[in-house]
Amino acid sequence: MLAVLSLLLLSFCGSVRGVFQQLYCTLSDSCDCDFRPNIRGLEWDLYKNVFGQHLAQDVVSEEVARFLANKSPDRPLVLSFHGSSGTGKTLVSSMLANHLYGSAMSSPYVHQFVPTLHFPSPHLVHEYREELKSWVQGNLTECARSVFIFDEMEKMPPGVIDVLEPFLGPAHVVFRTNYRKAIYVFISTTGQELIKEVTLQNRLAGREREDIKLSALQDRLAQAVYNDSTSGFFQSSIVQQRLVTVLVPFLPLSRCHVERCVHSLLCQTGSCQRSDVVEAVGGDMTYAPAQGQYFSTTGCKAVAAKVNFFL
Ligand SMILES: Nc1ncnc2c1ncn2[C@@H]1O[C@H](COP(=O)(O)OP(=O)(O)OP(=O)(O)O)[C@@H](O)[C@H]1O
Ligand SMILES: [Mg+2]
Repeated sequence: MLAVLSLLLLSFCGSVRGVFQQLYCTLSDSCDCDFRPNIRGLEWDLYKNVFGQHLAQDVVSEEVARFLANKSPDRPLVLSFHGSSGTGKTLVSSMLANHLYGSAMSSPYVHQFVPTLHFPSPHLVHEYREELKSWVQGNLTECARSVFIFDEMEKMPPGVIDVLEPFLGPAHVVFRTNYRKAIYVFISTTGQELIKEVTLQNRLAGREREDIKLSALQDRLAQAVYNDSTSGFFQSSIVQQRLVTVLVPFLPLSRCHVERCVHSLLCQTGSCQRSDVVEAVGGDMTYAPAQGQYFSTTGCKAVAAKVNFFL
């Protein structure tokens, strides 16, 4: 009897504590919600494990560090990743979330959306907008330090994402929830042609890849994204009002980067010394454009399957 009573008391205390904790989180907005940012770890991971993406490495580390250093930011951090398939966009978004929360990507405060799964029908834009708005609002009320990742934005029906406009601007403290502490990451292949073109011109001019500056791409990329009718950001007020903190270009990968991906994968399975496999996979990829064959058409995406084949 005593044991049952103690159990009841414990569970009651637990739920009361839970309610108080949630109330405290909501009102104080200083609750950490499992938030354990490790900026050094993020920087290290980006520099060690992401190949050929100097812009993404620099921009993501700098912007995240700057954003988190400010205890009361005046707007959320909004990053938009652009580039062709297999260049590391999803990889970098996972690294970011991994180094922000104690429970990494499985944290309940990391929310991932995939349009083909969550917003499959272009006829349901109105319904999706309502759902998305209340989902974001609800989660930010629970934890101001939430991360929202929208992958494959090129498959998002245009019009849905604009419902987030009020959350991305500077003036939003509603029901005492601070909406400015959130991080949003949008990911798409939109703008890949422009990025490929700039990288190709740079290469043909004999310049180093690292000579490509963010400023050379920022405005043109915003324009390309805004004008692409197949993009979830087509004519979006989020882009028009410059609510995206920074558009992050992911450059097409060359054979040397693909080979680094192969080498890294081999090392994870204890086969670091298999330079024959590195060579074989590097040589088995398709490269474009026809003249020069500078860039892997699938980035590092098919690497894992090819390593298994040649190993
Ligand atoms: N720059 C890179 N450095 C290291 N590994 C990479 C890089 N790019 C891609 N990879 C590896 O290749 C695979 C595919 O990468 P990822 O899923 O990040 O591509 P993506 O840019 O999101 O492509 P998609 O647009 O098709 O979704 C992953 O296993 C990832 O680890
Ligand atoms: Mg991806």
